[in-house]
Amino acid sequence: MSVVTLTINDELVSARSEQTLLEVIREQGIFIPTLCHMDGLSERGGCRLCLVEVIGSRGLQAACVTKVAEGMNVTTHSERLNKYRRMILELLFSERNHVCAVCVMNGNCELQALAAIEGMDHVRYDYLCPDLAVDLSHERFGLDHNRCVLCTRCVRVCDEIEGAHTKDVLGRGINCRIINDLNQPWGSSVSCTSCGKCVQVCPTGALFKKGSSVAEMEKRHDFLAWIMAGREKNEWDHSEKTPYYAPKPRG
Ligand code: FES
Repeated sequence: MSVVTLTINDELVSARSEQTLLEVIREQGIFIPTLCHMDGLSERGGCRLCLVEVIGSRGLQAACVTKVAEGMNVTTHSERLNKYRRMILELLFSERNHVCAVCVMNGNCELQALAAIEGMDHVRYDYLCPDLAVDLSHERFGLDHNRCVLCTRCVRVCDEIEGAHTKDVLGRGINCRIINDLNQPWGSSVSCTSCGKCVQVCPTGALFKKGSSVAEMEKRHDFLAWIMAGREKNEWDHSEKTPYYAPKPRG
């Protein structure tokens, strides 16, 4: 591990060379919006809300997937960045049917909160108003494609933390959809363990617990930190203890 020195908003900052810009920016107590990033999951760099200006580099850089480097000079807030962040949020709102007033996550939604923080009080683009399905085939959870922002946190938590890889993304561009197994009703999935991790990491009301009413659904992300810490300490590694779960040798 080596240490690098960079400048963030005109302040000299030290960081470990393997850190991302987002980690270092947050360590400095600076807020920048994120949607696809979640501590404990791999980075995707898809939502582009964490864009920052790096002097000398072409275009804007997504802070969550950009590693720090010696001498970097970074700006996290500017008129140009505010303009792009707001535009991204407006495009997300216009792409599907985010009708907050009738959403289970109204008041707890990350997309809604970011829109408020970035001062997005209207959308300048035409709403696409797609006619999208709501999958209610699972006995405990629902998947409402109308509210999905394709952050893929559900896909990553199911693959990287639960190890089931039930969820994936089908299609391209505005036709992308979160699917279960081979694009079948969630309730008929053979790989889903019904753990609910995907529901908890979803930033909007796209994944929800059945029976939740408007504004009733709250999600908790802290289970991820708990699992990560447990794995680091090998708390659930029984390989050196009695292998009670190992199959009995055949006689
Ligand atoms: Fe960096 Fe989404 S949080 S691109």
